[in-house]
Amino acid sequence: MSVLHPQLVAAEQGQGAIPIRFVGPDAALDGVARRWADHHGFAGKPGQLLVVPGPDGGVDHVLVGAGPVFDPLSARGLSARLPGGLYRLDAAPEPAGRAALAFLLGTYVFDRYKARPDKAPVRLVAPEGLDLAETSRIAAACALAREMVDTPAADLGPLQIETIAREIAESAGAALTVTTGDALLEENYPAVHAVGRAAAPHRAPRLIEIGWKLDRADLPLVALVGKGVVFDTGGLDLKPAAGMRNMKKDMGGAAHALALGRLIMQADLPVRLVVIVAAVENAVSGDAFRPGDILSTRRGLTVEVGNTDAEGRLVLADALTRAGEHQPDLTLDFATLTGAARIALGPELPPLYTDDDALAEGLLEAGRAVGDPLWRMPLWPGYRSALEAEIADLRNDPAGWAQAGSVTAALFLQRFAPETGVWAHMDIFAWNPRARPGWPEGGEAQAIRACYHHLRTRFG
Ligand code: BES
Ligand code: MN
Ligand code: ZN
Repeated sequence: MSVLHPQLVAAEQGQGAIPIRFVGPDAALDGVARRWADHHGFAGKPGQLLVVPGPDGGVDHVLVGAGPVFDPLSARGLSARLPGGLYRLDAAPEPAGRAALAFLLGTYVFDRYKARPDKAPVRLVAPEGLDLAETSRIAAACALAREMVDTPAADLGPLQIETIAREIAESAGAALTVTTGDALLEENYPAVHAVGRAAAPHRAPRLIEIGWKLDRADLPLVALVGKGVVFDTGGLDLKPAAGMRNMKKDMGGAAHALALGRLIMQADLPVRLVVIVAAVENAVSGDAFRPGDILSTRRGLTVEVGNTDAEGRLVLADALTRAGEHQPDLTLDFATLTGAARIALGPELPPLYTDDDALAEGLLEAGRAVGDPLWRMPLWPGYRSALEAEIADLRNDPAGWAQAGSVTAALFLQRFAPETGVWAHMDIFAWNPRARPGWPEGGEAQAIRACYHHLRTRFG
């Protein structure tokens, strides 16, 4: 199962590759390069890139500004900016593997609906000692999550998420269970059903579950849970136009859980794995759930719906309860859960919630190590009362006085999180709103590499 990335070339096939030199402000350049650099105002600043010609007019090497401290992630911009050709990292700055992975992350293009102008591929010779298969599958996981997020809701409904999950399960020899439509009521997923039932019949809600190596009781059990709202209109408490515009991305959590799950299985990590995705469309119809409705949940708690736009926590309530039935040692959930997460930390720093200090430190440290940052936020018990309802166990729209929308959403999930093991929740944005070379506007993978690195460290 080692499909190599098409833009990554094994070291043996690297003859004639053009060297890429990362240079800081004080780099000593030799004669021609020095004059060429001065002529172009190249000063080794981050973001600067200069192709240096040889005597024959061909490309001799490429200078890339590294600034005083080299950030391997900056290699994400290379593929978009370099002319087509075969390149290698010259005197690869440590850790070279991270720059190579960043390069691959930068090759992602969403071209399903628009042909890109013909450009010969930019390919990279793997630096010495690189695990090509591992680097390729990590890049592929991030690309899968981004592609799912980028795909419009019309072409990525609950059924399409099921199809992707089925492909992932089949190629890993894992079991797949899907509970759809009215069967959600029979199988006791009432909140998933309530949120998703307004959608057209061919876009019926479903609970998708992958189980891998579950008979290996000697291995730790990891559960991944994802919010798969294929489009979030807000339901009857309809979102305003600007807020609805990007809501094709509201299945980002499901995309992340499936992509990370596939990565774990391809890498054959020594764990048992359960991936649970609630795939629904938060649509509007005569049968839509309503403000004031009181939903039951798989856990047995009743929830008064104050706002149908707080739908993610409702479907995750049932999904997390289901995860708990497997008695996991570790549960990670991913969800584009609140706009408040972006208000708090912006689009590039996902809030991390967990009660377990060791898990928090492990995930944060992993995020720092691989350049996939998370920031810990508090499951502040003082705000629990914001979720109290008069006539139900909980309400889904926190009382306005609490303000901390991402925190109260996490506190809601905590009521449904597995009682065994440790649990962490990531309120991801899954979107890059500012286009830069290597970071196109659109779907973004967040916390996949951090979580994977942590799982490897913890269990690998
Ligand atoms: N999917 C949204 C959250 C969201 C909005 C994520 C924009 C990223 C960008 C979620 O379902 C939602 O609408 N949350 C509401 C909750 C509120 C009604 C309590 C929110 O954040 O405003
Ligand atoms: Mn919503
Ligand atoms: Zn949503």
